[in-house]
Amino acid sequence: MGKAIFKIIIGLLVGAGLWVGTMALEFPPVFRWMFFAYAILGTVVFLVLDAPSMKPMNGAKAFGAVLVFYVILCVVYIAGASLWPQYDPEDEKGKIEKLLKAKREASEQGKADELIARVKALDEQAKALAERIKALGGDLAPPVQGTGGPGAPASTAAAGDMLKIGEDQWQLQECYNCHKLKGEGGKKRGPELDNIGSLMSMDDIKQKILDPKSWMTEGFEKEFEKGKMPDKYKDLMEDKDVVALAVWLSTFKNTSVNTPKSIKKK
Ligand code: HEC
Repeated sequence: MGKAIFKIIIGLLVGAGLWVGTMALEFPPVFRWMFFAYAILGTVVFLVLDAPSMKPMNGAKAFGAVLVFYVILCVVYIAGASLWPQYDPEDEKGKIEKLLKAKREASEQGKADELIARVKALDEQAKALAERIKALGGDLAPPVQGTGGPGAPASTAAAGDMLKIGEDQWQLQECYNCHKLKGEGGKKRGPELDNIGSLMSMDDIKQKILDPKSWMTEGFEKEFEKGKMPDKYKDLMEDKDVVALAVWLSTFKNTSVNTPKSIKKK
């Protein structure tokens, strides 16, 4: 009996040691309990070693005893295991999703802010353009739908659309093949157009697109004579697209770029 108490005390001490150890190593609480439980299990095994030995069995009785022992072991293991907190992947996914959601929302808010800022900048540009169109005679703007009187919002929206169409035409007609703009394109060495808005009016640019022989760029006399700039846009483009492209180009007034002057030929 004294031996059994001694073993129990040793078992509890080992259990306590494991508990403190796992705590010091910052294991989650469930692991403290698990290690403690192992110490108790070990104690039980050592106690069983001292139990009086059973009478020898054989035949069907021995087989039945082994079977019963096996069933008891299975029940204890399964029941014991299911007592521990269970790891549920869905649960963990839910937690991760919660964390990610907060982050995602933050970045979406960021994107929305950026978009709003861009729209504001574009609106400013559109307003400036609407002023320009008015100064150029007003009737160049596409007809404004409805009867809203001097409807500023509608006309700035139309101007914004026009800029967009102009930029699209620049890409579609591949003007960038010969002309550098915003630092891009111009492999076939035509004049760089970043300051064209300070040199040519929207009407001049329109005329140049429809009839490249109408204007000759200084320093590009050879190219002009050879007809490098294609004389095909009058067939390829609709009038409103030419206007949009010319309007868009006339907004480029970057004086730090050396865009050459053109001389009127026709
Ligand atoms: C195959 C090359 C090529 C393509 C494509 C081309 N251009 Fe040109 N462009 C030139 C060359 C070369 C000049 C200068 C010689 C001249 O005056 O024709 C020029 C001149 C100009 C000028 C006058 C530039 C200045 O500084 O005065 C404008 C404006 C212009 N092009 C607009 C356009 C637009 C808009 C498109 C697209 C619809 C276009 N070009 C497509 C070669 C090209």
